[in-house]
Order: sequence, then structure tokens, then C-alpha cells
Amino acid sequence: MNIESFFPKDIKTALEKNPPGAWMSAVPDGCIRLNSGYPATGLVPAAEIKSASARLLDEEKDLPLHYLGSPRIDKLKEQIQERLGSRGMHAESDELLITAGACQAIDLIARILLDAQAVVAVEAPTYMEALEVFQNYTSQIISIPIDDKGLETEQLETVLAERKKNGLTLPRLVYTIPNFQNPTGTTMSSDRREHLLALSKTYDFLILEDDAYGELSFGEIPQTLKAMDTDDRVLHVGSLSKVVAPGMRIGWIAGSSQFIPSLAWFKKDLDHPFVQSIMAAYLEQVNLEQRTKQLKDKYSEKCTRLINALEQYLSDQASWYVPEGGYFVWVKIPGVNTTNMLPYALNAGVAYVPGQYFFMNQEEGTEYLRLSFSYADEREIEKGVQILGEVVKETL
Ligand SMILES: Cc1ncc(COP(=O)(O)O)c(C=O)c1O
Repeated sequence: MNIESFFPKDIKTALEKNPPGAWMSAVPDGCIRLNSGYPATGLVPAAEIKSASARLLDEEKDLPLHYLGSPRIDKLKEQIQERLGSRGMHAESDELLITAGACQAIDLIARILLDAQAVVAVEAPTYMEALEVFQNYTSQIISIPIDDKGLETEQLETVLAERKKNGLTLPRLVYTIPNFQNPTGTTMSSDRREHLLALSKTYDFLILEDDAYGELSFGEIPQTLKAMDTDDRVLHVGSLSKVVAPGMRIGWIAGSSQFIPSLAWFKKDLDHPFVQSIMAAYLEQVNLEQRTKQLKDKYSEKCTRLINALEQYLSDQASWYVPEGGYFVWVKIPGVNTTNMLPYALNAGVAYVPGQYFFMNQEEGTEYLRLSFSYADEREIEKGVQILGEVVKETL
């Protein structure tokens, strides 16, 4: 018996793609991890989370461990509403859904909006796990380039106009990461944000605004698309992975009350009430504003260290965008195939993510790589870039 013969056609098609996480290379012990897009051990508040869980169980006994969970789940929703409100995003209770991380939020939105006939537009390059999710639902993915001001909305408009003229299906959804984009670190200009919102009305699409890094701005936090939206077209996805702990899997979707119940319908019990109540208890006892400020200062220092090291060791061979927040620096090395170079870099002691994985058309990413300053410490960052510089010079 072949179990796969039971799978529906769409599932079989999706399973023909690269398996999830194919971009995550095995990193040898001792290698400097400039590939890892997650916080360093010391930046995860393990002790505080331990005390929050103990306090929760002391106060509520077994309650948080049941299906319905603790009343603190509602509290978490209020805490998130407050944070959204402080950034100009108003969300009533029926306009907000807590999810198991931003990833579940993206998957739920894709599940509700996309089928094999649907078209989705994404930035090129973009977050590779979102590409994996969209490809589970449709193969009709249009890539729109990105530059130092974010998604090139002028190009999007050209594509939309062409498709309309030729009677082709228009996108139902545009996926964008306007703040400190993964992988490029770029931020969408406010003119382009306005343009994108105007296009969404003209061409009648919804916008999935992935704001996973939005709070990690080294300066002013830019105004979100959601805060600028007057037509309920933006589904704003956020996460506490980058400011608290990714393993807790707490994210959300803020959007129209016409849309949120449909997402809740399919989410069912696929999130984690116990962890949500721990998060609420943690947020009760911590000053998140202050913690975020500390994280931003730390990441800003680490980013500067990475940029300075690139100037020192790779300025003749490579170019890059200087991010204003987030975790990543996107580096272009003309004449180098970064996928082929990776084994040499790993062997020499530094890991990065080759650019190809962030594109639908992987060839577009050949000369790019993503470096992250979130995980490695300052000394490792500098050493890692020095090693990378040597490997690049040997490769060229
Ligand atoms: C752009 C982007 N969106 C979403 C996520 C996933 O976030 P979460 O851990 O909340 O699922 C990440 C994580 O790296 C990301 O880079």
C-alpha cells in the first residue's frame, strides 16, 4: 500500500516542493552562526518565564492546564491590544486573534484566502517560510522586487495593470514585511506604504502585513500599514518571538471583524492556552517597554559591529543595505555563487544563509547571502565576517 495514494492532488503537488527548512544547513560545532535568525541565549528571559509559570500555577492551580485555560488568556489579548494601540492600531476583541506565532497566522490567512486558482504577490526576496506556506496552497506566486525603500510598488502597479489588461487573475493577497524585512533588513518608505494601500483599493486585494520585527527599530518605529489603513484591507500579523521568546509561539492577527471569525473557525485548538497564560503572567511582571528598549540598544550595537566588519573585510567585494532595525543584513557579492561557497565557509568556521532560498526564482539569489547579527556575540560577529572575507577572496 502506498499511503501517498490517499493524498488529494493539491497535497501531492505541494509535497513535490523542497521540504520545509531545506535552507537550514547543518552547522558544524564551533562554527560562528551568522545564519541564525533567532535571539542569543542570554537575550531570552528564561528565569523570568520560570517565575511567571510558577506564579501562574501557584495562583490558578490546574486551571491553565485545561482546554479552556486560564482567564489570563483574555488578559494576554488585552495586553496585545494595548501594545497595538500604542502604535496607532486599534483592535477590538473581535478584530484580534492570538495564534501560535506569526507562522500560524500566515498559514491561517493563506488557508482562508488561497486555493490553487488564487494568485498571491510577494516581495523578492522574502521570508522563506512564508514562501513555503503559500506554496502549500497555490503555485501562482508573483514576485515583485524590493530595493532600499522596500517593496517596489511602482513595479507592482505595472504588473497589476498588465494582468488586468490581459485578463489574467489578479492577486487576492499581497504579502509584505514593511519593517526591517527578512532577509534584506530594508524598511518600506511611507510614500510606498500609501501607494500600496491605494493599489489595494484600485485592484481589490488584501494586504498581509508581517510585522515580526516591527518593535525592534533602532530609531523611531515607522507607522504600520494597519495604522494607515482606512478600508479594512490590512491583516496585520505580529509576534512576541523577537521580543520575548520564539519557542513560546505567541503571535496574532489584527484585522477586520468580518475576517477574524473565519480564521478562528479553522484555528480551533491548534494553539497553546497554557503558554498563552504563562506569557500573560510574564507580561504582568515585566516592563516590556524597557525590555524592548534594552533589546533594541543591544541589537543596534551588534548591527553596527557587523556593518563595521563588512566595511573592514568585504568593502571591495560586496555591497549591502544598512538596516534600521530587526536582525538581518543582506549582502551582494557579484561574481560569487553563495550556495556553492557555503561548504567552504562552514569549513572555515562561519555560517550564513545563501540568497537563493528567499526567491521563488532561486537563480535571482545566487550572488546574495543573509547575515544575522541577532545570535552571535560582538566578538564572533567580527571574527565571522573576517573569515567570510577570506573565503570570498579565495572564491573570486
Ligand atoms: C518575517 C518573519 N515573519 C514571521 C516569522 C515567524 O515568527 P513566529 O516565531 O512568531 O512564528 C519570522 C521568523 O523568523 C520572520 O522572519
